[in-house]
Amino acid sequence: MQKQIAVIRGDGIGPEIVNQALLVLDEIARRYGHTFRYVDVDMGGCAIDRWGEPLPAAELDKCLASDSVLLGAVGGPKWEGMPGDKRPEKGLLALRAGMGLYANNRPAKLWPQLAGASPLKASIVEKGIDFLVVRELIGGVYFGAHRTEEVDGELVATDVMPYSEHEIERIGRIGFETAQKRRKKLCCVDKANVLDTSRLWRRVMHRLQSEYPDVAYSEMFVDNAAMQLCKDPSQFDVIVTENMFGDILSDEASMITGSIGMIPSSSLGEGSRGLYEPIHGSAPDIAGQDKANPIGTILSAAMMLRYSFDAPAEADAIERAVSAVLDEGLRTGDMMSEGCTLVGCAAMGKAILAHL
Ligand code: IPM
Ligand code: MG
Repeated sequence: MQKQIAVIRGDGIGPEIVNQALLVLDEIARRYGHTFRYVDVDMGGCAIDRWGEPLPAAELDKCLASDSVLLGAVGGPKWEGMPGDKRPEKGLLALRAGMGLYANNRPAKLWPQLAGASPLKASIVEKGIDFLVVRELIGGVYFGAHRTEEVDGELVATDVMPYSEHEIERIGRIGFETAQKRRKKLCCVDKANVLDTSRLWRRVMHRLQSEYPDVAYSEMFVDNAAMQLCKDPSQFDVIVTENMFGDILSDEASMITGSIGMIPSSSLGEGSRGLYEPIHGSAPDIAGQDKANPIGTILSAAMMLRYSFDAPAEADAIERAVSAVLDEGLRTGDMMSEGCTLVGCAAMGKAILAHL
């Protein structure tokens, strides 16, 4: 196959982890007879520096003209003082919205080799961790109105959290369909004891439930879900939730599996074009030092092959290679534990290449 991939290296550790993922994609192309053409896209802090805005229209157009998008990470202290619409994160949100990517899929799976790196007790981890957070990505409080105004001599800030039925229905269906392909359990996480948006989520989910009788459906308040993820994560298969709850829970989910540096993600809308990125941030404290873990990005490239390019054998090959280097005991600093061998970003990428 021939595919054009928009590549956003971004800020902080973004360039170094993306470079390793591209080496892996190149090797896959060579072995399986594919051609991947990469188009560089500026987004985030680097785009602010170069173009004065986090996602210039021409950069978004390059993504829309590609078959898929691979992203490292954006943001950093350099741009922290900037006004809201001139922040790197704004570029990421504009990209998600501009590409219509409402379904963010974040797998939390314990690699058995990393069980020792999980902060949870062995007795909890032994029961297994293998679930998926399906996060609504272009609605809710992230995209509602944001306002700060002076009222009676003091500042008042407001963030609006809107959800309409069709937004809930399309992500709800993804939740049910994803569960059907797994262990057939779906948990809708919300705050229906307080929020109207959550009560609407439940109404829509109840309507959908009858169309998926093979899926065991349940509901949980988000505060309880945060607790249950520490207490017994083995109870979860697929979690479907709104944008901000998904943001928070997916960080927690990644930590209990050993390291946030390992977790890839896909963001999809209608059609096969997606955005693939590790769920960790730009880690400015270790940027440029060859310390970052490239595996989250490499596994994101594998997800791209699987979900956007319908190439499961190629994706399997990458995942097997990752597993093999973990078996060998190679670890970057974020997941280092006793008896293992500490390696840098480039050495980790090279080891994965050698196993492809
Ligand atoms: C994530 C990140 C982003 C989000 C930030 C960088 C805007 O935390 O992808 O989880 O909140 O969605
Ligand atoms: Mg986040």
